[in-house]
Amino acid sequence: MAKVITITSGKGGVGKSTTTANIATALALLGKKVIAVDFDIGLRNLDMILGLENRIVYDVVDVMENRCNLAQAIIKDKRTPNLHFLPASQTKDKTVLNKDKVEKLINELKKDFDYILIDSPAGIESGFEHSIFLADRALIVTTPEVSAIRDADRVIGIIDAKSKKAQLGEEVEKHIIINRIKPELVEKGEMLPIEDVLDLLSLPLIGIVPDDEDIVRSTNLGKPIALDEKSLVGEAFRRIARRIEGEEVPFIDIKAKRGFFSKLKGLFK
Ligand SMILES: Nc1ncnc2c1ncn2[C@@H]1O[C@H](COP(=O)(O)OP(=O)(O)OP(=O)(O)O)[C@@H](O)[C@H]1O
Ligand SMILES: [Mg+2]
Repeated sequence: MAKVITITSGKGGVGKSTTTANIATALALLGKKVIAVDFDIGLRNLDMILGLENRIVYDVVDVMENRCNLAQAIIKDKRTPNLHFLPASQTKDKTVLNKDKVEKLINELKKDFDYILIDSPAGIESGFEHSIFLADRALIVTTPEVSAIRDADRVIGIIDAKSKKAQLGEEVEKHIIINRIKPELVEKGEMLPIEDVLDLLSLPLIGIVPDDEDIVRSTNLGKPIALDEKSLVGEAFRRIARRIEGEEVPFIDIKAKRGFFSKLKGLFK
């Protein structure tokens, strides 16, 4: 049965698109047939993170407006078998999506894929509501900062009120991803520890992702870091994918492995 997973946040810029690209990649590496769908209408950048921006001809709005069929718009990643991508439109008109069109599209995709990952836009306007409407699960990305956590909390409330599952009296399964953790700052007491973030949100954790400048490099290269076997951040995303698949996997030890992985990196340069 196909699963729709929306990657969302309250605050913008916390790493939704990066997370979507990498979890989509990691699930595809596990042999699942995956499509990443960019719902950030007008501001697409998931295509860049996936390194597929040059292959875009049609987009999600073209499909909804019947300017092309779904197969024409879906881009198949040549590097990662099983990974597919449906780009956002660059139109400035954010009212182009509506719930009926979104539902038709997602139901169509459900016939073909194991996982449909939706990258949600920043903010809590209509684009956000469309991205969470049909979610079976939501991954809420936050950084360990009070402002981001407060905004994440607000989003959780909206998912519980406005998703289709909520309308049917069911619950969207929700998990937290804490992104951009800097262990040295946590140690110095300058960043909230993971336990405090979880206390504030009262949702289960599905992943912790360290802050790593290699992410910026991999985005510039259009090669998701989940493909890099030696990267600790890559491993963080691969473990989230395994947890989504129901496996019990320990969280990465950010502190201990940092040294280990940087040594490895030095060896393989
Ligand atoms: N773990 C990380 N370590 C270092 N940089 C990161 C990490 N995660 C994300 N970034 C960087 O942070 C910036 C924002 O990330 P991203 O675009 O994924 O966020 P977003 O939540 O999708 O933003 P928006 O709300 O604008 O859609 C990017 O430059 C990205 O490379
Ligand atoms: Mg984004």
